[in-house]
Amino acid sequence: MTSPTDLSLVEDDDAQARFDELVAHEQRIEPRDWMPEAYRKTLIRQISQHAHSEIIGMQPEGNWITRAPSLKRKAILMAKVQDEAGHGLYLYSAAQTLGITRDTMTQQLIDGKAKYSSIFNYPTPTWADMGAIGWLVDGAAIVNQVPLCRASYGPYGRAMVRICKEESFHQRQGFEILLQLMQGTDEQREMAQDAVNRWYWPSLAMFGPPDDESPNSAQSMKWKIKRFSNDALRQRFVGMLVPQAEILGITLPDPELRYNEETGAYDMGEIDWDEFYEVLRGNGPCNAERIERRRTAHEEGAWVREAAAEYARKQALRAKEVA
Ligand SMILES: [Fe+2]
Ligand SMILES: [Fe+2]
Repeated sequence: MTSPTDLSLVEDDDAQARFDELVAHEQRIEPRDWMPEAYRKTLIRQISQHAHSEIIGMQPEGNWITRAPSLKRKAILMAKVQDEAGHGLYLYSAAQTLGITRDTMTQQLIDGKAKYSSIFNYPTPTWADMGAIGWLVDGAAIVNQVPLCRASYGPYGRAMVRICKEESFHQRQGFEILLQLMQGTDEQREMAQDAVNRWYWPSLAMFGPPDDESPNSAQSMKWKIKRFSNDALRQRFVGMLVPQAEILGITLPDPELRYNEETGAYDMGEIDWDEFYEVLRGNGPCNAERIERRRTAHEEGAWVREAAAEYARKQALRAKEVA
């Protein structure tokens, strides 16, 4: 005799087999499809962290909008920071399809319980930081995110396609800021080099810990969320930077960096993982400031949310009256 419990097990087995087949055949998993609980949880964690990173990432650059050196630079920077807000919104929407609310995610962020990319906890003391962030941080983001366009979860992959197009504009505008500074005075060249010195190592750390210390990577690759290992992506990024640094006339601040003909890869110096984990734990130079700013913005925006909800309520009421 079959009990109801047995039946649901049979159903789960079938569902699991369908899921495995979709993933194996490079088909997309959509919100309507059954998915393993661990897959759903992994995606919620990854997509919400990604969304938070886009939103918090607006702050280090937002810092320079009022002080941009020209009207043209101001317009470009404003557009860039606004793009990051859009990225956050696409990603929050993608995460919502997995059964978590936007309110919950926002609360986790402002309560300091959610993670976001550590790199946004560093300060932006000079205009050259806008160049270094665009070139290095958005550059690392592209290398990380292009493979995510093929992520097995449909809403995530589709959000990434649009985001990547905008990220390549971000990277170019950063490169162009640095290029102009490098063609300027000695002081401007020093400012550009100093900014690259400060952002280079944290941008390499954006790819996450080395492969042998990245326990969740294998499962994510099996699920085809992740396509390449952290170290492989880091190599690809450095390979992209080296010729661009040459054009800029900027030195990448790693004396051990050189192309190894035998391995066909770049040898590089050791990333300071202690610092990385320290910033991740909340002890970076700007962690507290970033969260506080986000919390204040959320509180100050309460009236907008209330007004929008009230408007929606009235519209729904009117629609009912007409019907
Ligand atoms: Fe972005
Ligand atoms: Fe960006």
